[in-house]
Amino acid sequence: MRINVNLAVFLSGTGTNFTAIAEAANEGGIPVIITLVAGNKPDAAGLQKARYMNIPTALFMRPDFPDGKSFADYMLSVLRKYDVDLIALAGYMRKIPPRVIRAYRNRIVNIHPALLPRFGGKGMYGMTVHRAVIEAGVTETGVTVHYVDEEYDRGEIIEQRLVPVQPDDTPETLAARVLKVEHELYPEVLGKLAENLK
Ligand code: GRF
Repeated sequence: MRINVNLAVFLSGTGTNFTAIAEAANEGGIPVIITLVAGNKPDAAGLQKARYMNIPTALFMRPDFPDGKSFADYMLSVLRKYDVDLIALAGYMRKIPPRVIRAYRNRIVNIHPALLPRFGGKGMYGMTVHRAVIEAGVTETGVTVHYVDEEYDRGEIIEQRLVPVQPDDTPETLAARVLKVEHELYPEVLGKLAENLK
């Protein structure tokens, strides 16, 4: 039996979820080692954070490749190089190539800052999500962790956590409350998935 599961985190932005996962892993709270942080933007703050933490990083930039197959093959070769068992998308703004989804079926997860299936899909990211939640007049939003399949935000839901919407919320105040819950829920769910993969 293995002691830890090798995790790759994919991101495009700030990477606060990545650091929340890294803290939980470092404290030994979850049986995970982050062996790779990958992104599609060289200057993403999350990649910088990984570099400071001496975690290997990789760039997956589709325009660098002549076709989808060679891009997917490269991604798979990097994932194999770092012996990746599980992939956590944490603010990753690109679709995962179908070949990679097939190779890692049920081992790629994503976090979404609302209660899917509502407020998800193409273009629903960042403040757009929280603005839509407020405009819909709902009193509860939340966080969803789900498996990644070939469609945006459509894979099987693993876990959700509720977050109240306050009458005076702006998209920004709501985003901050939701993000705090993301930082708790994501490491927790990844820990459980890792336990099952060990
Ligand atoms: C989070 O809100 C996550 O739900 C969404 O993208 C955001 C990433 O934030 N998928 P961060 O880069 O982890 O701070």
